[in-house]
Amino acid sequence: ISFTLMMIFAAYMLGSVSSAIMVSYLFGKGDPRTQGSGNPGATNVLRIAGPFAAVIVLVFDILKGTVSVYAAFLFGVDAISIGVIAIAACLGHMYPVFFKFKGGKGVATALGCLISLDFNLAGLLLGTWLLVVILTGYSSLAAIVTVTLAPIYTLLFKPDYVYPVIMLSALIIWQHRDNIRRLLGGKESKIWKKGNVNE
Ligand code: G3P
Repeated sequence: ISFTLMMIFAAYMLGSVSSAIMVSYLFGKGDPRTQGSGNPGATNVLRIAGPFAAVIVLVFDILKGTVSVYAAFLFGVDAISIGVIAIAACLGHMYPVFFKFKGGKGVATALGCLISLDFNLAGLLLGTWLLVVILTGYSSLAAIVTVTLAPIYTLLFKPDYVYPVIMLSALIIWQHRDNIRRLLGGKESKIWKKGNVNE
């Protein structure tokens, strides 16, 4: 059990490494939490620092989840603990110990966790996200629709993991509360447009 606890702790620490904040500073743009939507994630780095920076953030944040869950599989950790490790990685991303606990929304990191769990499931989620972005232009709406469908997809592909996925979906929707308010008020910015933190 102590080994599993160490893995949960390690996943939280890895999740806490906010690539959006580091990459945005590297590109000379400063803290993404004070610009655009105010979110330290790939979407907002796309607004602030452009596509190259955004791709680095996206890949890094996905890998935080993928590596955490893959390591758990390698060490033969049981299914329930793997679910907890995935949640820990995403909680680290959302509430990073290294960045005053003000982190991102967990979309990329959660997808990363599911890549290690089931490739087809992850592909279906990515496809859903892309479809909604192409149809509507809203990254946040795409995330909300995708995580709402995620428990259903998980029931089809990996039923053992449906409870941790429900938990992740709930956390991610909670992190999108400001986006939901903006979407309902018609004030959300499209993925390719600069947002304003004061909206
Ligand atoms: O993954 C975050 C995305 O769903 C919303 O980002 O910056 O538009 O709040 P943002």
